[in-house]
Amino acid sequence: MPDTAPHTANRPALPPEIARRRTFAIISHPDAGKTTLTEKFLLYGGAIQMAGQVRAKGEARRTRSDFMQMEKDRGISVSASAMSFDYEGHRFNLVDTPGHSDFSEDTYRTLTAVDAAIMVIDGAKGVESQTRKLFEVCRLRDLPILTFCNKMDREARDTFEIIDEIQENLAIDVAPASWPIGMGAEFLGCYDLIHDRLELMDRADRNKVAQTVRLDGLDDPRMAEHVPERLLAQLREEVEMARGLLPTFNHQSFLEGHLTPIWFGSAINSFGVRELMEGIAHYGPPPQPQRGGREVAPEETAVTGFVFKVQANMDPKHRDRVAFVRLASGHFQRGMKMLHVRSGKQMAISAPVLFLAADREVTEEAWAGDIIGIPNHGQLRIGDALTEGEALKFTGIPAFAPELLRNARAGDPMKAKHLEKALMQFAEEGAARVFKPMLGSGFIVGVVGALQFEVLASRIELEYGLPVRFEGSQFTSARWVSGERVAVEAFANANKGHMATDHDGDPVYLTRLQWDIDRVARDHPEVRLTATKEST
Ligand code: G4P
Repeated sequence: MPDTAPHTANRPALPPEIARRRTFAIISHPDAGKTTLTEKFLLYGGAIQMAGQVRAKGEARRTRSDFMQMEKDRGISVSASAMSFDYEGHRFNLVDTPGHSDFSEDTYRTLTAVDAAIMVIDGAKGVESQTRKLFEVCRLRDLPILTFCNKMDREARDTFEIIDEIQENLAIDVAPASWPIGMGAEFLGCYDLIHDRLELMDRADRNKVAQTVRLDGLDDPRMAEHVPERLLAQLREEVEMARGLLPTFNHQSFLEGHLTPIWFGSAINSFGVRELMEGIAHYGPPPQPQRGGREVAPEETAVTGFVFKVQANMDPKHRDRVAFVRLASGHFQRGMKMLHVRSGKQMAISAPVLFLAADREVTEEAWAGDIIGIPNHGQLRIGDALTEGEALKFTGIPAFAPELLRNARAGDPMKAKHLEKALMQFAEEGAARVFKPMLGSGFIVGVVGALQFEVLASRIELEYGLPVRFEGSQFTSARWVSGERVAVEAFANANKGHMATDHDGDPVYLTRLQWDIDRVARDHPEVRLTATKEST
């Protein structure tokens, strides 16, 4: 597998601190092994000392509340986070993507903060629905993708079949980086096609890194000392076929998102994980330019960044709110004063945090590509830009129109004000859309997937002590209204019964009929109804 393109194709050399950074996410269908793989990454990255720690922490956290119990029951991960660790001279920033399809909006935004993704698939199941959806989001952004085919220690599909399925289902070229030897109970390990060496799995110790046997190609006589004759013959035949039939790795094609290298392994047995990490380190892109009205290059000296996620009440005891910022350029230092572009105000960033494994730590510095958390009291919202003075506006972080609308009712009518506060907080987090109708009282809450109502109700109860009910609404669709101010106002006044404002005060048209939306488009060319809104 030749390295056909320089690391920073067509780009100036990056300062070493930036060049060594790799910011990526893992995409997968629930149960494919994302958590296990993350844990092994952290283990090899020295961020945790013992396998089981991530899960153990997860369990400890989950038992704390019904909400978390729900997360556990449904096998979803709702609390996204970012984790930083070092591996062989590289700084890895792993951004966690929420796993359930109901959280597509959140996931989409998370993927705006990374430069590459690892796609984990289950060797027995191949490409599953959620993998496909997430893959499509990556494709929209032309993200380079590395593939890890997991659970090879179990009965898996034929290797060619898996590769074919990815190629056909996802319309991407697949270049094998390793080739499995046997499968299920017979799985011995892989032949590493990049380094021409044998990797043997240790079944006795799940946390032991594979034993590597250096060889002179597949015909090296020492192969026979490690691989039984039948499997060896099969391996030679398959690799010959693969080399003849499948694409070979092309770095440029990978960086452009047209080709994915695939590694086979078993995360739970720590097998294939190191090779995957080396793959990210060697082939993965360093921090890429970001769209901020103009192209913002990572090597620019002025520090810039954008908020892609806001998480409130990470620790229910502290009522804090953390904005996750992807640094787009420069060398950030603690205490810096940054311009908060939306409000035009200066903010001193005195306690920026880096997320190391499951803990967070105040950091003295960070570089383009890093994800820092900035505790704040609600000033920072999704899509906000922080700069050293320039009025940048980062694009590509859309808000999607919710597909389900319901009325929110406080279980205790005396607590309506509290409910408003809680709802606004979730709206700012991006966990839901909250609309205040022009006529009447109360709020209409919009989400992308039904499960989000349950999550919201549990969180409002848990974090604010407020029982809440979500009841059927007369509306089913929401569209943002834009146009000249006078035209929008006239339109709103003529359609009061359908109008509301979102948490930013922007006008929204609510309806239950697609027909209505078409009618407005036909009869009111002076306004525009849109299903997405760029975060302001
Ligand atoms: P997810 O985050 O993608 O949802 O997957 P997770 O890592 O939680 O893994 C899902 C299940 O698959 C877990 O089993 C995990 O142990 C298992 N698993 C992960 N990697 C491998 C592998 O390489 N081989 C095999 N055979 N299994 C693997 P579980 O029974 O749901 O949980 P647990 O009781 O093991 O914790």
